[in-house]
Amino acid sequence: MKIEILTIFPGMLESPFRESMIRRAMDRGLVEIEVIDLRSFTTGRHRQVDDAPYGGGRGMIFKPEPLFRAVESLQERGESRARVILLTPQGRTFNQEMARELSREKRLLLICGRYEGVDERVREALVDDEISIGDYILTGGELAAAVVVDAVVRLLPGFLDEESVTEESFSGSLLEYPQYTRPPVFRGMAVPPVLLSGDHAAIARWRRKQALLRTRERRPDLFAKAVLTPEDRRLLEEEL
Ligand code: ADE
Repeated sequence: MKIEILTIFPGMLESPFRESMIRRAMDRGLVEIEVIDLRSFTTGRHRQVDDAPYGGGRGMIFKPEPLFRAVESLQERGESRARVILLTPQGRTFNQEMARELSREKRLLLICGRYEGVDERVREALVDDEISIGDYILTGGELAAAVVVDAVVRLLPGFLDEESVTEESFSGSLLEYPQYTRPPVFRGMAVPPVLLSGDHAAIARWRRKQALLRTRERRPDLFAKAVLTPEDRRLLEEEL
């Protein structure tokens, strides 16, 4: 997969992709990530990317010319057409299903908007999707782009071992069960004995039950959508 990211702050996106598992995915050739400075598509001495809004009001708006120039020239140089995504608080709220869908694309072009806005003609003529990462306002789309890239890249074939992927889709819309590692007792807090029992079936039942209870308590919205098996219902009834 190829991911291009257009931003006026390329420095903000350097370290997220220079470290960690994303870096490994790049080194292994699973993904190529290119951060591109929108200012390199400006003309004129001032390299201006924004301007005051028509009709008045505060803040500055991204001008259409640099974005059109950038997206059109990037689309032309690529082998396939990129799906163009604008990061903005006005977009559809990002979730795992969207990450999965994007991970199937060959080429993504992410545009980091700024919080005051982007000329509407950019949305109308250049952008395929608008994505928000949640109901809060960031100063720009850069951190949102990093979030989307991280969630998408870890789903690329070959990134995770098969088992983690299967387990993830199996657990569906439930939250994860609690995890422990050594030591068995830490500051008087003991690891649940079943995890030390070596009884794999009992461990699997305990984990499933914890995932069910945790999801019901913390995320009733997810729990309502979960598909429960008869065994799940039995595990939940044990609580009564
Ligand atoms: N830009 C500013 N806030 C944002 C958000 N919540 N999601 C995506 N892009 C943004």
